[in-house]
Amino acid sequence: MASMHKPTQTANSADRLVFSQSLSLRQKAHKLIPGGAHTYAKGDDQFPEQTPGFIVRGKGCHVWDLDGNKFIEYGMGLRAVTLGHAFEPVVEAAYRQMQLGANYTRPAKIEVEFAEAMLEVIDGADMVKFAKNGSDVTTAAVKLARAYTGRDLVVICADQPFFSTDDWFIGTTEMNAGIPSAISEMTLKFRFNDLNSLKQLFERYPDQIACVLLEAEATVPPARNFLQQVKELCEKEGAVLVFDEMITGFRWHIGGAQKFHGVVPHLSTFGKAMGNGFAIAALAGNREIMQLGGLDHEKSRVFLLSTTHGAETHALAASLETLRTYRERNVVEVLWRQGELLRTQIRRSIAENRLEGFFEILGRPCNLVYATRDQHGDPSQAFRTLFLQELIRRGVIAPSFVVSIAHSDADIERTAAAICEAHAVYRKALDEGVEKYLKGRPVKPVNRKYN
Ligand SMILES: Cc1ncc(COP(=O)(O)O)c(C=O)c1O
Repeated sequence: MASMHKPTQTANSADRLVFSQSLSLRQKAHKLIPGGAHTYAKGDDQFPEQTPGFIVRGKGCHVWDLDGNKFIEYGMGLRAVTLGHAFEPVVEAAYRQMQLGANYTRPAKIEVEFAEAMLEVIDGADMVKFAKNGSDVTTAAVKLARAYTGRDLVVICADQPFFSTDDWFIGTTEMNAGIPSAISEMTLKFRFNDLNSLKQLFERYPDQIACVLLEAEATVPPARNFLQQVKELCEKEGAVLVFDEMITGFRWHIGGAQKFHGVVPHLSTFGKAMGNGFAIAALAGNREIMQLGGLDHEKSRVFLLSTTHGAETHALAASLETLRTYRERNVVEVLWRQGELLRTQIRRSIAENRLEGFFEILGRPCNLVYATRDQHGDPSQAFRTLFLQELIRRGVIAPSFVVSIAHSDADIERTAAAICEAHAVYRKALDEGVEKYLKGRPVKPVNRKYN
């Protein structure tokens, strides 16, 4: 049978990429910035050695690195960019607002406008408060739940990788240096799709659990009624249910995974795609809990997300325009459709290259990720690095296969050709040894104890 994929017509031809300028800036970056970057997930240890070190420009789903190499990008700013880089209506809305001033002594009118627009799409939320980072709003949800319930313990989902940069979460990871154990010990874990594991915590710590915090869905869908049962259990036990919608929000559905799955939490947190790359995050929830951060109650005041830049006006203008675009262009539908197109091609390539059991594509079409396994079927960072390396050589940067609406059919077709060739190398590496094909050291997980 003829190969499904013609030899590559990718953005760059394999092996001709030069990264000399990136390489020299990288040395300087590591002298000036711990880790050489401001986000661990973008760091050098997350990519192969032959990799674009720095991006200077993005447009749509394409980025250009310091050496002038052009790539099709996936993941798109750690999932913050769903409309494409430098999406003009959003950039223009932000620019128009900037000309009116970024920050005033009294609140800006646009704070109320965007609050109203946001609450129209989030079912069950009566109030919202904005911030700059997802970590800040998940932490705010935890604090609010503690204040509301008068309890200290926090329960998070053990199968989901990230909730916040703050101590209550990072203290539970391998990378917990600098965090007192007294703090880490107040965060407990249950298993996704395992209601009993949650019940056991409530039994073991009666009247002590303030909240249960999880993503309604990550790579594994919730079992039938699981989310509803978690909510019922929380209500029975007097705990607050929080959905972290940083990834699922504005992706599963315009109303988030809570709308998609039909379960409304007491509090939910958003960020990433909300502003198409501009810094914005939100804590939304029901009035009874949220108002503890306000001025109209008799209880102890909760210091809820009061920051200098929380309501920076141009980020709010960018978010308003992003939301308008979501409605006008059926953004969520396009994300699912383009992801599905890509998934079909990836599955075909897996079959063509006999990689079943070694390369897995996971998650919903709007949020595709992949898993790499070695010749024994064990999870392998070396094979992940090899795959990344072979894609980069062919003009594709893909730590995940998370698409934006700027990924056209032609971009997906080009990516599929690159994947098929990268998979062919993967196959050879399985048969002959990964070290024969991998140039340099493998990547490492972000959350690890030692370098
Ligand atoms: C599920 C989830 N929650 C929270 C966060 C934290 O968001 P931020 O990086 O904006 O602080 C992230 C970031 O990756 C995330 O994926």
